[in-house]
Amino acid sequence: MKILVLNGSPRKGVSNTMKVTEAFVDGICEESCGSAEVETINIVDCKITPCTGCLSCWGKTEGECVIKDDIPQIKEKIMKSDIIVESFPLYFFGMPGILKLFTDRMLSMMCTYKGQRAELGTSFHGLRYPSKDKKFVIVSSCGYALTDYVYDPLLAQYDCICGKGNYTPILCPQGKTLRVPELKNHIDKFLEKFKQAGREMYRFGKIIPETAEKLSKPPFPERTFKALIQKFWSDEKESVKNV
Ligand SMILES: Cc1cc2nc3c(=O)[nH]c(=O)nc-3n(C[C@H](O)[C@H](O)[C@H](O)COP(=O)(O)O)c2cc1C
Repeated sequence: MKILVLNGSPRKGVSNTMKVTEAFVDGICEESCGSAEVETINIVDCKITPCTGCLSCWGKTEGECVIKDDIPQIKEKIMKSDIIVESFPLYFFGMPGILKLFTDRMLSMMCTYKGQRAELGTSFHGLRYPSKDKKFVIVSSCGYALTDYVYDPLLAQYDCICGKGNYTPILCPQGKTLRVPELKNHIDKFLEKFKQAGREMYRFGKIIPETAEKLSKPPFPERTFKALIQKFWSDEKESVKNV
């Protein structure tokens, strides 16, 4: 099994979201007894030219983008992978700009639009290279106390792109708490459910509903989180004064 992680956080190696993604991927690897191969691509390090909107990939060059940068190589890796994980923070209720640039360039992997409508389980375009066995997972963390409401715009966008039910969302609130050294013990326990989700993804090809329901529960009760985040920002201000 090949797993491709597309890290869409500009914070790369210190990404909060990657803590969740790593737990999920660890679960897959553990369940596969180490036979799963994992490759991570940091989108911010890739040469990705913005889509020029020429639509050649839908006409003249059929499925091929005319821009020659890192995209053709990433597309090849996507084609060869069994599980594709997009890992990214929520930015202004959507995906970060670098990931949007990447997503726009994926147009060549979508079918030409010929007036079709999105039905349940299908997207507006449909995939050019559909595969029943390929799994697409989005892992995202955000700064707010809860995932309710704030993820609605992003999920609506992915529903339109992939089709409802054609991807697995894993959403995590209180992202800022995930890498605080003093909270490590608590966070390690909190991350266990994402590892369980990974084990299930390997075993059943999906996350069972009871686990899925637990995934977006926050690491801390709202009141505790409020105290933590207030302390974080006052410490930040203090650190500037002490320089
Ligand atoms: C430009 C920018 C916009 C953001 N917008 C939101 C937002 O709309 N909602 C939210 O809850 N958090 C928002 N955040 C916070 C990040 O989503 C959060 O800190 C996340 O855990 C960062 O993950 P990363 O370390 O993987 O990049 C924003 C952060 C930045 C830098």
